Amino acid sequence: MKIAVVGSGLIGQAWAIVFARAGQDVVMWDGQAPALLEAPTIIAKLVQDLARAGLVDNPAELLARISTEADLEVALKGVGYVQENLPERVELKQSIFERLDALTPPDVILASSTSSIPASKFTASLEGRARCVIAHPVNPPYLVPVVEICGAPWTAPDVIDRTWQLMQQINQKPVHIKKELEGFILNRLQGALLREAFRLVEQGYVDAEGLDTTVKEGLGLRWSFMGPFETIDLNAPGGLADYAQRYGPLYHSIAKQQTDSSPWSEAVIQALDKERREQLPQEKLADRRLWRDRRLMAMAAQRNRWEKDDTGQ
Ligand SMILES: NC(=O)c1ccc[n+]([C@@H]2O[C@H](COP(=O)([O-])OP(=O)(O)OC[C@H]3O[C@@H](n4cnc5c(N)ncnc54)[C@H](O)[C@@H]3O)[C@@H](O)[C@H]2O)c1
Repeated sequence: MKIAVVGSGLIGQAWAIVFARAGQDVVMWDGQAPALLEAPTIIAKLVQDLARAGLVDNPAELLARISTEADLEVALKGVGYVQENLPERVELKQSIFERLDALTPPDVILASSTSSIPASKFTASLEGRARCVIAHPVNPPYLVPVVEICGAPWTAPDVIDRTWQLMQQINQKPVHIKKELEGFILNRLQGALLREAFRLVEQGYVDAEGLDTTVKEGLGLRWSFMGPFETIDLNAPGGLADYAQRYGPLYHSIAKQQTDSSPWSEAVIQALDKERREQLPQEKLADRRLWRDRRLMAMAAQRNRWEKDDTGQ
């Protein structure tokens, strides 16, 4: 199937790699000529990095599947699926979806990468609103496979199904969010953890380094290959219900202390930032991001091996 990637910034480039890596033809469009012009160069570099990490078999073939087109109407000719990646502003999403709805036949799925805006906020007035859906990736989707699929109340079930199947086909891991909600699932979980992390530092229980160590040397090790429900299922002899019986009262007691919903305190933000900058000076942030991406690549390669072991391939 031919895929249109609308918006060729950070996430658009990453989606192009994901689709092309799985054998789909991709045409990229962007409203700003320089962004469209530079996208193939950035993509080529990213693909070389992925090939070096063993995550892409044939970089030249992958790159040959990606083209760019400055005219939106031409870009959309013959596509079966559109992945929109414009900046996170509701009026931009609304206007681009109006154009996409007008320029494509009714069976084409129109998906948005939005991190936070429910589809009902920008598709309500569209004739083809039933074919609009959110497919929210995590950056960068060629290394982090989960995709949150969330429809508006009027999104056709068939559109959800087809988007889900496409995501599976391109080796992503779709999660269906059954009702619209702010932040979808991933960012709500992240928000709950961050809320408590800020609170614990603010109240003097731990510093930033100790908190990060607790996650990376503790909770995060299991979370990189199984979720919190499977974790607790394995952490009591009789499984999840046994765990709930043993530890439910503890978590309930903690939850009663976690009702404060005030914003992250400015004083704690400043203190945390100071601690982070002592450990990692501002000028080293970019290097550290490259280090993070190399770690993610090594992890993705390992996870691919595990998946092959698990499926006996
Ligand atoms: N960056 C992330 O970590 C991340 C993760 C998941 C989802 N998202 C979502 O993906 C979407 C894109 O984010 P991004 O980080 O790629 O942003 P970005 O700024 O890197 O890319 C946006 C692209 O849109 C183009 N653009 C800007 N205004 C335009 C207009 N009026 N018409 C046409 N093109 C226009 C820009 O030239 C740019 O190439 C957002 O909705 C964001 O919430 C981002």
